[in-house]
Parts: sequence; structure tokens; C-alpha cells
Amino acid sequence: MNTTKNKLLIYGATGYTGKIIAARAKELNLDFEIAAREDDKIKILAKELNVPFHIFNVEDEKGWEQSLTDKFVLINAAGPFQFTAKQAMNACLRAGVHYLDISAELETYQLAESLDKEAKSVGIQLISGAGLFVSYDALAVHLSKLVEDPQELKVGFRHYGGFSKGSILSSKNIADLGILVRKNGEIKENPNPELKVFSFGDEAVECLPTPLGGIVLTYKSTGIPNIEEYFSLKLPALGMPDLKAENLPDGPSEEERASGRNGLSAEITGKDGKVVKAYIDAPSGYTLTPISVVAVANRILNNDFKIGYQSPGSAYGEEILNDIPNLYLYDL
Ligand SMILES: NC(=O)c1ccc[n+]([C@@H]2O[C@H](COP(=O)([O-])OP(=O)(O)OC[C@H]3O[C@@H](n4cnc5c(N)ncnc54)[C@H](OP(=O)(O)O)[C@@H]3O)[C@@H](O)[C@H]2O)c1
Repeated sequence: MNTTKNKLLIYGATGYTGKIIAARAKELNLDFEIAAREDDKIKILAKELNVPFHIFNVEDEKGWEQSLTDKFVLINAAGPFQFTAKQAMNACLRAGVHYLDISAELETYQLAESLDKEAKSVGIQLISGAGLFVSYDALAVHLSKLVEDPQELKVGFRHYGGFSKGSILSSKNIADLGILVRKNGEIKENPNPELKVFSFGDEAVECLPTPLGGIVLTYKSTGIPNIEEYFSLKLPALGMPDLKAENLPDGPSEEERASGRNGLSAEITGKDGKVVKAYIDAPSGYTLTPISVVAVANRILNNDFKIGYQSPGSAYGEEILNDIPNLYLYDL
């Protein structure tokens, strides 16, 4: 048996986003295999992509062990991650395999943070939130270098392309936390949340205060002690009191994804009061996430990683933007 650990495994590959991730890995000619808990869908996908497949439940330690034997990095695309991240991270720790997921759930970022020591001791990089946060974090790192001692970060995120079933279900976990911010280095509830207008080039958009995860990830990347985040839309789960997976849409079609753009707009204030602003114009969310996470996996496959708990920005800074096609950063 070939035990050289040089491949990528994508778990949750049959989900809406997992399939696009697998297609991107194929497009880049990566050496990868796919996995999921159900056999019908994974067999069809494996045939389409002409790659090996594995079928196992997220709790199945033997399944993880066998599928990770010859792997160097895992992309966990099976969300909501509150049900899969712990099992997959532990499997990677046992197998000595680098871990990535595309979670938007704050608690899985904190779980990765809590496993820093274990990850360092087995020499793996652990990033939860390597989807949309790759460019979000890169933007913050870029701006943080333009002021002395950055003190405050405000980020607006303009989303395009609707929401997938997994995103709607996961957004409940975010909504349930309340409006969290980072204040003087601590995560706190915002007592006075207010709307804020962000510029995305020729469009100004009023955004709603929403914890997106930068309060954990971008704090790791930049150490900025005060972070507020805003979203152009209401979190989808907020309008749906009775969430049932079977009633939710899969996600936007390829045409819908191609018909609009995502935007990220950020401003950072330095200790002397200087304010710097920039924005990113990027492909829409469900195109950007797969391109981003595969870009990070590809870096790891090329031995570019830092061991321990990392955020996209702490591991790759703004350089990773060069790996994401059709994305533009503009200083304002
Ligand atoms: N922030 C970002 O960058 C970003 C962007 C896009 C998506 N996401 C997140 O990615 C996740 C997936 O989204 P999606 O659009 O692909 O959703 P989806 O279409 O519902 O797919 C979810 C996938 O995960 C699998 N899965 C779910 N729970 C599982 C469990 N307990 N054990 C094993 N497999 C499980 C599903 O398997 P079955 O088919 O067997 O149910 C399916 O393959 C969501 O949490 C979403 O929030 C984040």
C-alpha cells in the first residue's frame, strides 16, 4: 500500500458547496479523493470526477483513519460544522493531517483555537473558516499594515447569490449568539448595535451589525483589539422560525452565481486616529468559497503552512489573494 501522505481529502463532497470545491480541485489537477456519509451520491460524484471515494459517518474513527492514511490535508465541507468539526479535527490530529473547513460558525473557530497545542505537537495546521474568510482576512491584514498600532476594524460584507441549505441551517448558530463584537480584546455583546454604510466602489450599502467570525479569526490575524462586523442582508435563519432541511433550496445555479459579485469593505483606525479604507470586489459567495479553500489546500500541498491553530490571515496574509482569480483589492 502506498503510504506517502501527499493527497487531499474532501469530506462532505456531495453537498452543494462540497461539489463545487471538488470541481475546483479537479480543475487545478490536484491529487484528491472524496468522502461523504451516504453512498448513492458519492458514487455518482466519484464517477463524474473519476476520483476514489470513501463512505463513512463523521463519528466513524476507523473510516477517518482509513481515508486519511495517505492524505496531507483535509477539507471538511460537511456543515453545519457544530456536528462535524470536532470529529474531523480530532481525526486530523490522530492522523497528522492538516485541517481546513469552510465554517461560518464562531464556535468552530474557537474549537480550533482550543486545539492549538495539540495541533503544534503533531505538526499540523488547523484552520476553521478557510472559505470567505480567506479574502476577508487578507483585506484586514493589508489595511493593518498601513497604520501605526491598529486599534479598530470595521468590516462590511455585501453578499450576492442567495443562500444554500447548509448556509441557512448554519446561520441559525450565528444568529443565536446575538450581536457579538470584539471590544478591548474581549468578545462581548454589542449593547448598542447600529446600521453602518460601507462603500463598495461605486455602490454604498447600508449593512446590519452581524458577527461574521472576524472577531475570532481576524483577531488572530491582526491582534486588533476592537472589531465590528456588518452584513448587507439579514442572516437567513432569522426569517425562518421553523427550519427544516427538506424545505430549503440547494443553492444558487451556476448562472445565478455568475450574475453578481460579492464585496468586502473595511476600515481600520490606528492609535493616532488615522483611518485607512479599502474594499475587495470578488466572485459571488458560492464561487469564492470553493476557490479560496482550494487555494489554501494547494498551498499546504506545496508545503506552505504554519503549524498550530491559524486563521487564513495568520497563515497567508494578503499574499493568498494572488491565488484567487477574478478578485480585486482597491484602496479607498
Ligand atoms: N463562510 C463560508 O465561506 C461558507 C460558504 C459556503 C458554505 N459554507 C458552509 O458550508 C456548509 C455546507 O454548506 P452547503 O451549502 O454545502 O450545504 P449542503 O448542501 O446542505 O451540504 C452539506 C453537506 O454536509 C454533509 N453533512 C451535514 N451534516 C453532516 C453530518 N453530521 N455528518 C456527515 N455529513 C454531514 C451533508 O451530507 P448529506 O448529503 O448526507 O446530508 C452534505 O454533503 C454550511 O455549514 C455552510 O454554512 C460556508
